[in-house]
Parts: sequence; C-alpha cells; structure tokens
Amino acid sequence: MFKLATVLAFLAAIASVVSAEVYFEERFDDGWRDRWTKSSWKTSEGQDGDFELTRGKWYGDADADRGIQTSADARFYALSADMGETITNEGKSLVLQFSAKHEQKLDCGGGYVKLLPSTTDASAFGGDTPYAVMFGPDICGYATRRVHVILTDSKGTNQLVKKTIPCETDELTHVYTLRLHANNTYEVLIDNEEKERGSLEEDFEFLPPKTIADPEATKPEDWDDRATIPDESDVKPEGYDDVPPTVADPEASKPEDWDDDEDGDWEPPMIDNPEYKGAWEQKTIDNPAYKGAWAAPEIPNPAYNADDAAELYKFSDLRYVGFELWQVTAGTIFDNVLVTDDAAYAARFAEETWGASKEGERAMYEAHAAEKAKEEEAARAKAEEEAAADKALEEEEEEEEEEEEDYDEDATAPATPKDEL
Ligand SMILES: *[C@@H]1O[C@H](CO)[C@@H](O)[C@H](O)[C@H]1NC(C)=O
Repeated sequence: MFKLATVLAFLAAIASVVSAEVYFEERFDDGWRDRWTKSSWKTSEGQDGDFELTRGKWYGDADADRGIQTSADARFYALSADMGETITNEGKSLVLQFSAKHEQKLDCGGGYVKLLPSTTDASAFGGDTPYAVMFGPDICGYATRRVHVILTDSKGTNQLVKKTIPCETDELTHVYTLRLHANNTYEVLIDNEEKERGSLEEDFEFLPPKTIADPEATKPEDWDDRATIPDESDVKPEGYDDVPPTVADPEASKPEDWDDDEDGDWEPPMIDNPEYKGAWEQKTIDNPAYKGAWAAPEIPNPAYNADDAAELYKFSDLRYVGFELWQVTAGTIFDNVLVTDDAAYAARFAEETWGASKEGERAMYEAHAAEKAKEEEAARAKAEEEAAADKALEEEEEEEEEEEEDYDEDATAPATPKDEL
C-alpha cells in the first residue's frame, strides 16, 4: 500500500512536469528578426520606430542580456511574433512574463506586451488592434507609474485591473510576471516577488454587481430621518421681540447750525442696539426617534449571472505576442519573453536570466553612474574655473578702462584750474 502511494505520487509529479507547456520563449539573439514582424502601422506618416538588438550600457552577460530596444524618441512601435499555434488556457494557468530595462530613465511611455488572437494581421498590428491581454509597466511623469493588467472580456471590452500596482521606475532590468489561474484568480510578480493577487471577479469589472439597491423599495411613512429636532422646552423669553435691532444714538446732539426751517426736523442717527441678540431661535436636541438615513435594501441583481463568473480567466484564442508602444524618450530594452502554463518554470526562467545577471548589471550601472557623476563634477569645476577667469579678465579690463577714463579726464579737463594747482 505504502509503495503504491509512493508510486502514484511519483507518477503525479511526472505527469505535472510532463504536462507543463512552454508556448513561447524568446531570449533575443541575432536571429530575432526572423521571428518578429514589424507592422507597417504609422510608417506612411514616418512616425514608426525600430527596435534594435543591444545589451545596452549596463548588463550582466554581454551575450545573454541582449534584448530589443526602442531606438528613436516619440515614435510608435508595433512588433509581433507568432507563437506557432493557437493556444487556450482552458483549465490551466497562463503565465506571461518578460523583462524591461528603462535605460533612458523613461519619462513617459509604455513598457508592456500584448497577447493577440489568431485573427491578428501582423503587418497592420497597431494601437487599435484587438488584443486579449495587455500586461506590463506604464510610466508618464509622476501621475502614471503602474503595472497594467488589462483583460478583454467576452464582449470585447478591455477590463483594467481596479487596483493600482506600482511599477519599477529605475534604470535596471526588472521581470514582470502575470499569472492567470483557472480558479479565476491572478497574481502579478516583479522580479519573482508577488506584488498583487486577487480574484478576477472582484478586481475587474467583468460582471455587473451581485446586488443592487431595490428599486421597488420606498421609505416607510414612519421612518424618522431627522438627526435633531426642536427643543420644545426652550421657549422664547417674554418681550424678546420688543428689543429693536437699532436705536437712536444717545450721544448725538443736534448741530449748532441746524436750521429746522431749511434742514427739516433733526433726527439722531441710528446705531446698532447693544441689547439686541438677533432673531430668536429655538434650541435643537438629538432626536430620540432618529433611525438614520434611509437606504433601499440590497437585493440580488437580476442582471448578474453567477455562471458568467466561472470562466473569466479563459482565453480560447491566443496566437501572437506583440509590443505596441509609444515612448517620449526611447531606450527601453525588452528581453526574455515567455508564455507558458507553468508558474514554476517561469520563476526558474526568470532566475536563470534576470537573476543570473542582476548583480553584474547593477555593478556596471553603478560604475557608469559614478563615472557620469565624475564627468559632471569635472565639467562643473571647469565651468567654474572659466567663469572665474572671465571675471578676472573683466575686472582687469574695467580697471584699465577706468585708468583710461582718468587719463582722458586729465587730457580733456579745462586747462586753467589744474594748471594753477
Ligand atoms: C488558484 O489556483 C492557483 C494555481 O493552482 C493557486 O496557486 C491558488 O492558491 C488558487 N487560489 C485559490 C483562492 O484557490
């Protein structure tokens, strides 16, 4: 019995390994252009951009770390690769993974990939081409710095994850991983570390809400929603209203030169009455019968169908992987694109590529940054020196001019007084 269980467990382990499928894996090397198609989108306007194979300015492995880089500023990039077969993730996980390195310190632009259906025309692929999944970082100023997860629903509507998932903004390589699971959950990882997870139903707006406020419900007659009521024990003091708001100024007196015949009867000016306390207002007290604000009770939403929630994760027509981007400042390097059903494989793949290179890349980046800082410091010092030299020269010239002026004054001064001295 023990043996059988062991054998079964062993078989199950084998089966899970064997069933793992890698649909697409692109590490980018010299042959990459044979596998990827540049779209003609925006070419007639001269606004298309080319990707160039490069390891960039800092890297860990000169060969393995080559990837494709956006090469010109303010261009549209549209490039796709055929996965070779149309895939479905039915009953399985779907893992989409790639790395992005914003060497230019991206100011504004996309850094994401798309999964596209078999109906895609690679030569016309562009911003309006329908896609199934869009995933990856997007940066624009300080306002947009997030990882997009957009899943297209069965009606063709792009559903953006409601949670804000921050992306990396530095100049180093980072691996972005999206996992969609058959139990309608998802996970987002950056550098193999989980950053977000959740339910597709709750974190996206695929479906109408489960409940709605009952449109038939009305507020009951006896529902008291007054938080406070007048204090009936508070009565207006007798004579309160007899105090006028203004009175004749008692300090005023009729001017000496007042002529009753010409000026009419003199009347003292009116001033605010210090006794006057404003219109009387009855005090209020908390209403003991207060029931709170009335709200219609929630009822099940007739437009909500629980069956619709069962396969939110499912895409039955995935065929192309594409980059469709616009960047203000170009320079992002993409590498190691992977589409698989196996999260463990993807994690290993990330470790073997990005993981193996990250220390070397960082060291090179830091050396580069230090060199740049030194150059900037030298340039600053030189500029300062030059400014000081200029200033010295100016002062010298000014002195000379002054001397000349003195001389001129001497020469043109009236002859007499000075001569007398
Ligand atoms: C959903 O499925 C994934 C993959 O099998 C698993 O890792 C995760 O724990 C599951 N989540 C829930 C809430 O069951």
